Amino acid sequence: MLSPAQRESILSAAIAAVVTWLLVYGWMHRGNGALDPDIGWGYSLGILGGSMMLLLLVYPFRKRIKMLQPIGSVGFWFRFHMLLGLLGPVAILYHARFSWGALNSAVALAAMLVVAGSGLVGRYFYSRVHRGYSGRKLEVRALLSEMHDLLGELVDPGTGGAVLKSRLAPFEQQAIAAGAGFWSSAASILRFSLDTRIAEHRLKREILALPASAATPARQQELVATAAAYFDAVRRAAEFAFYDRMLRLWHLLHLPLFFILVATAILHIIAVHMY
Ligand code: HEM
Repeated sequence: MLSPAQRESILSAAIAAVVTWLLVYGWMHRGNGALDPDIGWGYSLGILGGSMMLLLLVYPFRKRIKMLQPIGSVGFWFRFHMLLGLLGPVAILYHARFSWGALNSAVALAAMLVVAGSGLVGRYFYSRVHRGYSGRKLEVRALLSEMHDLLGELVDPGTGGAVLKSRLAPFEQQAIAAGAGFWSSAASILRFSLDTRIAEHRLKREILALPASAATPARQQELVATAAAYFDAVRRAAEFAFYDRMLRLWHLLHLPLFFILVATAILHIIAVHMY
């Protein structure tokens, strides 16, 4: 039985695969003349892509306006936002035949690609400071207590738990130290992330090499899973403050980029219907 997080990552991987395939296929067949942006399917794809990008704007409104609650959850509209934010630009790329065209088209296309690309970066920052997509922020305090709980589970002398606990505990303080500061913390977070990955790899090897008298194979798997969850929690706690600031900075940049996209798209629509 798959957990909701596993289902989510399988779905994300499937969407990424479909979008990549559509992009590669479209790029490879871009010169075959099957689509014309002025008429038929080529024109319709322009309307479809533009409509998708209009529809994805429901998310910021749903997030801010309580009265819109009946139309669906914030999480649903955010997922839909990201899906349409990928499929809309793909439809526009097919409409544009994967070429820049006239200056007004090129500017609108570039603005769209920048906004969609920026969305992907924003999604990464968002995922580092939120639990899921419902708008619920992570709390460092909750992460720390998660770490304590994980260590608590390990107190089971004679089965390798006590040793593992003493090996993991120092990382908690290091996580708090690495997360302090702002620009200085970018380097320490990277180092901490690397250190914890190396430590995790070593510990895993050591646990799996324990004799069966110290820990049965099932217990070894349990210890490996606990260590992995612990390292994930310390990394997230260390990174939280940094990514929280990055997400705020990203918001400051994303919104003006979006308005540039709207202005250039309107100019493009007027230009192609006038000339
Ligand atoms: C051309 C396509 C896209 C447009 C026009 C667009 C537009 C927007 C707008 C207007 C916002 C609201 C900003 C705010 O509330 O301050 C937003 C937020 C966001 N978008 Fe997009 N977006 C696009 C594609 C994407 C893609 C492809 C992704 C990721 C897969 C994405 C991820 C995000 C994220 C993470 C946020 C911030 C959510 C939050 O903090 O609540 N966007 N986008």
